[in-house]
Amino acid sequence: MQVTITVNGQQRTDDVEPRLLLAHYLRETCGLKATNIGCDTTSCGACTVIVDGLSVKSCTVLAASADGATVTTLEGLAGPDGELHPMQAAFRSEHGLQCGFCTPGMVMAAIGVLSDNPDPSDREVREGLEGNLCRCTGYHNIVRAVRTAAQAGPSAGQVPA
Ligand code: FES
Ligand code: FES
Repeated sequence: MQVTITVNGQQRTDDVEPRLLLAHYLRETCGLKATNIGCDTTSCGACTVIVDGLSVKSCTVLAASADGATVTTLEGLAGPDGELHPMQAAFRSEHGLQCGFCTPGMVMAAIGVLSDNPDPSDREVREGLEGNLCRCTGYHNIVRAVRTAAQAGPSAGQVPA
């Protein structure tokens, strides 16, 4: 079947198997490998992307279901001149990562948290990210990064148009 999906600002039409997961579509069809797959069973959050403004675990969505949608992955966050998105900049400045495997999903989920709540408390950040697992950091610096990003204003909870 054919799907037409806007990925990181570019509309594309592809032939896909009806059972193809959005996570695999992004990685294999679009070649966007930042979206990691840690479990394939909705447990880890590594595959989180933004679909029509909402953070979504892309292993829970069929590419076919995303027909007509607008999808943003980590690759779509930085500006054309390479300027980091406020959430990326905050993860860097606050050392919100170690191995980096969870990071693309964590960054996208964190944008979703600020989209819902522009000034969350530590506890609200932790609750908002509870679907995203990190085996390295102990979460402390991730929470700090999200709260630092919040200080940048509304753009921290938005993806580029
Ligand atoms: S790969 Fe999607 S939640 Fe783990
Ligand atoms: S930084 Fe390694 S899993 Fe989160």
